[in-house]
Amino acid sequence: MADHFFSEDPASADVRRTVQARIWDRDYEFITASGVFSRDRLDLGTSILLREVRPSGSLRTILDLGAGYGPIACALAVELPEADVWAVDVNNRALELTGLNAAAAGVAERVHAVQPDDVPDDVVFDELWSNPAIHIGKPELHKMLLRWFGRLKPGGVAWMVVGKNLGGDSLQRWLTEQGYPCERVASSKGFRILKATATNRGGSPS
Ligand SMILES: C[S@@+](CC[C@H](N)C(=O)[O-])C[C@H]1O[C@@H](n2cnc3c(N)ncnc32)[C@H](O)[C@@H]1O
Repeated sequence: MADHFFSEDPASADVRRTVQARIWDRDYEFITASGVFSRDRLDLGTSILLREVRPSGSLRTILDLGAGYGPIACALAVELPEADVWAVDVNNRALELTGLNAAAAGVAERVHAVQPDDVPDDVVFDELWSNPAIHIGKPELHKMLLRWFGRLKPGGVAWMVVGKNLGGDSLQRWLTEQGYPCERVASSKGFRILKATATNRGGSPS
């Protein structure tokens, strides 16, 4: 199998490097590695999401869906000292890096970097943040989103960044059709920033 960044265990040598990023007026140095998404810099889409959306102070439980090396999860945990952040990914190397980056940011106790199946069944989320793995293909993407949107609390919100040419607009329509009203809150450099809200009309995981 090709060594994509979303492999469970990337076959490529685990060559570490660091990436500098400024998120919500704080400087971070993240450890990244080969076999992990955007190992050379904070991804442009992710940086636009973090530039356009700022978390609010009262959030308790947050999901970073497809955490990679953890920039979103770590910054959310730093910004929200009361919050627990579940950072899920299928790539074990990414999960290890998220753990290291959370420790470096002083938030290791509140960032839970785990495989999707290892999130306890009773955990539900106030918010979901994601630069989702579009490359897994539409059927898998839809299945993944319905699975996790189904665990948003009523009124909970999902913030996502999706490239326009990677189907950002059709994803917005599809989420609305599924019972998660979805609006475009910003558009920049070919990326759509989407906000979807969990209503009691939300679909169940399929
Ligand atoms: C576009 S990357 C974003 C990574 C990171 N959030 C960032 O902004 O740099 C999407 C991530 O989703 C992960 N992924 C792929 N399939 C997944 C799935 N079914 N469940 C959770 N994560 C998945 C990939 O391994 C990858 O790390």
